[in-house]
Amino acid sequence: MEASRKLIYRQRQVVLFCFFLGFSQAGAEPRRYSVVEETEGSSFVTNIAKDLDLGQRELIRRGARVISKGNKLRLQLDLETGDVVLNEKLDREELCGDTEPCVLPFQILLENPLEFFQAELQVIDINDHAPLFMDREILLKISESSPPGTTFPLKSAKDVDVGGNNIKNYVISSNSHFQVLTRKRSNNSTYPELVLDKVLDREMEHVLMLTLMAQDGGSPPRSGTVQVHIEVLDTNDNAPEFEQPLYKVQVPEDSPIGFMIIRVSATDIDIGANGEISYSFFQVSEEISKTFEVNPSTGEMRLNKQLDFETAPSYEVNMEARDAGDFSGKCIVLVQVMDVNDNAPEISITAFTGLIAENSPETVVAVFSVSDLDSEENGRTECSIQNDLPFLLKSSVENFYTLVTDRPLDRESRSEYNVTITVMDLGTPRLRTQLNVIILVSDVNDNAPTFFQTSYTLFVRENNSPALHIGTVSATDQDSGTNAQITYSLMLSHDPKFPLASLVSINADNGQLFALRSLDYEALRAFQFRVGAVDAGSPALSSEALVRVVVVDDNDNSPFVLYPLQNGSVPCTELVPRAAETGYLVTKVVAVDGDSGQNAWLSYQLLKATEPGLFSVWAHNGEVRTTRLLSERDAAKHRLVVLVKDNGEPPMSATVTLLVLLVDGFSQPYLPLPEVTSEETQADSLTVYLVIALASVSSLFLFSVLLFVAVRLGKRHRTTSMNHLSVPQSHFPGHLLEVSRTGTLSHNYQYEVCLTGGSGTSEFKFLKPILPNFQNHSPGSEIEENPNFRNDFGFSIQ
Ligand SMILES: *[C@@H]1O[C@H](CO)[C@@H](O)[C@H](O)[C@H]1NC(C)=O
Ligand SMILES: *[C@@H]1O[C@H](CO)[C@@H](O)[C@H](O)[C@H]1NC(C)=O
Ligand SMILES: *[C@@H]1O[C@H](CO)[C@@H](O)[C@H](O)[C@H]1NC(C)=O
Ligand SMILES: *[C@@H]1O[C@H](CO)[C@@H](O)[C@H](O)[C@H]1NC(C)=O
Repeated sequence: MEASRKLIYRQRQVVLFCFFLGFSQAGAEPRRYSVVEETEGSSFVTNIAKDLDLGQRELIRRGARVISKGNKLRLQLDLETGDVVLNEKLDREELCGDTEPCVLPFQILLENPLEFFQAELQVIDINDHAPLFMDREILLKISESSPPGTTFPLKSAKDVDVGGNNIKNYVISSNSHFQVLTRKRSNNSTYPELVLDKVLDREMEHVLMLTLMAQDGGSPPRSGTVQVHIEVLDTNDNAPEFEQPLYKVQVPEDSPIGFMIIRVSATDIDIGANGEISYSFFQVSEEISKTFEVNPSTGEMRLNKQLDFETAPSYEVNMEARDAGDFSGKCIVLVQVMDVNDNAPEISITAFTGLIAENSPETVVAVFSVSDLDSEENGRTECSIQNDLPFLLKSSVENFYTLVTDRPLDRESRSEYNVTITVMDLGTPRLRTQLNVIILVSDVNDNAPTFFQTSYTLFVRENNSPALHIGTVSATDQDSGTNAQITYSLMLSHDPKFPLASLVSINADNGQLFALRSLDYEALRAFQFRVGAVDAGSPALSSEALVRVVVVDDNDNSPFVLYPLQNGSVPCTELVPRAAETGYLVTKVVAVDGDSGQNAWLSYQLLKATEPGLFSVWAHNGEVRTTRLLSERDAAKHRLVVLVKDNGEPPMSATVTLLVLLVDGFSQPYLPLPEVTSEETQADSLTVYLVIALASVSSLFLFSVLLFVAVRLGKRHRTTSMNHLSVPQSHFPGHLLEVSRTGTLSHNYQYEVCLTGGSGTSEFKFLKPILPNFQNHSPGSEIEENPNFRNDFGFSIQ
């Protein structure tokens, strides 16, 4: 109901308005008046009395009014004068805003008679407002890659003035990249458009601050400004770039793994991801990629493998720095490996002879070469061997050497040489290599065997067992091998009388000497011969030594009584006159001993007597003497047993039985031989012949003895050197006398008597002189023959 009522009210108003229009002069144009805005209140607009052509009083009379449809009445009518003045100051912008022209319609109403006039008041704009930007700053982000001509429409400024007072154009502060164009929209409003004249480069200028000015078309014009903040956006338009195109670095070859060689650095002036650089090798060989590694983010290049100057003295490493895009930069790292003395010299033997014959002249032993992998001083070498060796190093070509002998070698003084070849380089530190070569000197048979002694004296006790080892001769040979294999041999004499081969033999291998048969001192006192030693070399060398065998006496002979003759049953009978004085020499027991020395020293003693005390025996010489005067009471017949004993160990002895007859005078011969046999009678007849023969033989013998002595004295000078080979004599006991020296005959002459056995008659089969036996004197002959018996009488009688 309320709503419909309002609608009806409005319909009435419209009807009323149409009514008024109906009263106005049909087709009449509204009267137009204008006033500039912002004119002061009560300013004159028009005089309607003149406009309507009415008299001065008529306005009041007709009750003229100015009305405005519904609007606030901004005009005031002075009825007196008819002037219409402004009621207040008018602001076009407030009244009309953007509408142009700004027209305020009003009516002039005359009531009596009612008359109605249309009128309009146009408010004319003045430039009373400056353009105004809504924002204090305009922020623009423009990529640096935008091409020239790119336009960037900007927010326009506002100017509430209209028409010519509105914004006319835009101006931008001077800059090298942009200009601004003033564009018009379809509704005639303007807006600025930024146009890129020249390409932006973020890297040059990443922010531009421009001032945009909007100018209106008023007079004077007004303007407003705004800051245009242009941020240049990065695009990846720059490649990374290394600080140096070429890096040179020197690295010692012994640098450890992980050693940082260099740190390369590249820069990319782009920012953000566009400026992020990763480093890598660029088209490098496998060798380089194995040897080095690069840290992609830091650019540190490190060693991945041991360097070796000798195999690769330098490396040229191409490096690349790449940003997130496709841009990359390159550089070269030149790694120069510095030589370190890390290689010892090497010796390589080309030819080598490990065996050199002794006594040979200068000989090449080895040919070798020396090398060192290092360079310069590190690779120069010096070669040497020990000083004290008979070898020399010769070098004709550098690093080639020959090892030669300096002089002929002697294997016997040194058979092996350990030659140390030392090679040192000249680097720091000096490295050295040593090679030991063993050089053997082969043997040449240049040394004869040598006996340890030039002569050997061997003592052999007589009665030895056959094949007794009597001694050893020994020789050495300084050579080696077969050249030192020694064979021993006996040097058999050519003397047929001396059968050496049957006496001794020698072991050819070891020089042991053996007596082949039992030796008998009494037959052979000493003999000498030569032994030889020969090596097995070619030609063989030999040497000789003298061996003298001395037979040592053994007490193997018991004393043998020469006188009185011992014959089993019949003892010898001595006659003693009763008138004999005390000490009368009854007889002398004569005995010999085949042995020598002590074994032959005899002593005598009375073992048994019929009447003890009547006779005594001198121990030394065997003389039997009476000890007191004889008396008639003494028995006529005495039996004495005398013991003859030698001084051997154990002693040997013999006994002799004597018959002593006391007779009253020598005038009565007494032949007490009751058991005389017929043969003995025959012997008596022989005695005369025997004496004659004996006399002649004795003279002959004396002559021969004299001859012999003469010869002997001559030889004696030559053989004195052999004296010391005789059996040494022990001290001669004082109570004993040597038989051979105390015989009644000259002890210089002895006779050997060969007796025929078995008959009672003594017969000289032959009688020959025997050699005088000087205890300290050896005969010159190689053989010493021992007389079987020696006695004081010179010969034996049986
Ligand atoms: C002209 O039109 C634009 C939109 O097209 C508007 O923003 C602007 O206010 C208008 N200007 C005037 C004076 O009418
Ligand atoms: C724009 O201005 C031109 C002349 O200044 C006028 O002819 C035209 O009608 C105007 N257009 C609008 C839409 O106001
Ligand atoms: C050679 O001499 C060296 C030292 O001088 C030693 O080490 C080496 O064992 C010797 N060689 C022989 C085979 O003796
Ligand atoms: C000694 O006596 C023995 C008997 O005992 C006898 O055979 C021998 O012929 C005798 N000879 C001498 C020289 O007396």
